[in-house]
Amino acid sequence: MRIPLIAGNWKMFKTKAEAKAFAEEFKKLYKDTDVQAAICAPFTDLALLKECFDGTSIKVGAQNVHFADEGAYTGEISVAMLEEIGVDFCIVGHSERREYFAETDETVNLKLRKLFEGPIRPILCVGESLEQRDAGKAFDVVKAQLEADLDQIGAADIARLVIAYEPIWAIGTGRTATPEQAEEMCAFIRDTLIGLYDEDTADQVIIQYGGSVKPANATEIMNMDEIDGALVGGASLKAGDFMEIIDF
Ligand code: PGA
Repeated sequence: MRIPLIAGNWKMFKTKAEAKAFAEEFKKLYKDTDVQAAICAPFTDLALLKECFDGTSIKVGAQNVHFADEGAYTGEISVAMLEEIGVDFCIVGHSERREYFAETDETVNLKLRKLFEGPIRPILCVGESLEQRDAGKAFDVVKAQLEADLDQIGAADIARLVIAYEPIWAIGTGRTATPEQAEEMCAFIRDTLIGLYDEDTADQVIIQYGGSVKPANATEIMNMDEIDGALVGGASLKAGDFMEIIDF
């Protein structure tokens, strides 16, 4: 059975002091629910958050990683560095990284393959632009991303994968996909995984929706059959809002 995952994506927000204040408030508000909660934070906050959430069920994730073991890659962070901190998840291929940092399906694939060598579970982001949706190409775009991003990755690894369907036009815009649009694409993603692997494998993959999820719309999104959680940007920055979403 899949346990839904609601993960915050802090993006480039929160210094260590701000992260500490959030963690202390969040821990006070936090109660265990039927979903797994996680915060994906800037690298500089990860060790602190692991320490603050020690003894709770709250998980911690990174937002990016490099695919090489180590080397002359100024400014980058390796999987081993994240593993040493005990990070649980790592976002890969977020549309902001694809758009502003030249992330391609090829580098996304290399990062996924490197992460699957160890225990950290990747959260792979896929999703179409507004132009692509309006042109009727949303499903083709997402399918092509999945095929390229998951190239040469075996079924045993896929079972540990989290996929976040994030339509680019819904990120940070306040314009959420309708629950039906999100449901339709999440179902399509699972069908694509059945085609690429098999039903048993596809059944184990957590498929989240992301894009302007907030306390006011969390319930209707989370109640959809095909949606196993959410990747939450802006609304994960306030402990009270994020807890409301987890306790939808
Ligand atoms: P948003 O961001 O919730 O602020 O729209 C979602 C994301 O980028 O993961």
